[in-house]
Amino acid sequence: MRNPWVYLAIGVYIAALASITFFIQQAAYTTQARQRAAPAVSNPAAAKTSAPAASKAASGASGASQGDAAKGQTVFAGTCVACHGPQAKGVTGLGKDLTTSAFAKSQTNPQLVSFIKQGRPSSDPANTTKVDMPPRGGNPSLSDAQLADVVAYLRTLQK
Ligand code: HEC
Repeated sequence: MRNPWVYLAIGVYIAALASITFFIQQAAYTTQARQRAAPAVSNPAAAKTSAPAASKAASGASGASQGDAAKGQTVFAGTCVACHGPQAKGVTGLGKDLTTSAFAKSQTNPQLVSFIKQGRPSSDPANTTKVDMPPRGGNPSLSDAQLADVVAYLRTLQK
């Protein structure tokens, strides 16, 4: 064992083992993180691809909501509550009461999701309050899946 190359070889071997272990851990962590980062996917098929709009619309066309109302409540509390108030009952001078909204009732879930994506500026003739409903409630980071969750939540509040 006086040959220095032997020590070098052992060193390389240990380094290789360590990096393999590291990469395996890294891969496991990434998988977990991805699973955690995929909200509103109770359906594993939808989890694989990040649920393109087409499949969302198709699944929503049945009338059944794909959204998760419990998650939607959290989204609502983080974004919509500022204008639509707790329980979505509206805030005078800001957002409307969504529990009694005839407009919301008239829309299918996918329609309501696309409405929320676009919002309704005060310049829109359909605007009733002269106050802006901002696109995605002013929170561009909300995904379509999260908006579907909010819609599912709103459905539970409708009178
Ligand atoms: C900055 C304030 C603000 C925020 C935040 C906001 N909205 Fe609105 N929203 C409004 C206003 C104002 C209107 C009414 C527009 C009008 O006068 O036609 C409205 C209208 C709506 C309507 C249509 C109601 C109707 O009867 O026409 C829906 C549905 C809605 N908002 C959902 C949401 C959701 C869901 C969120 C959160 C993702 C959200 N809004 C966040 C201000 C807001």
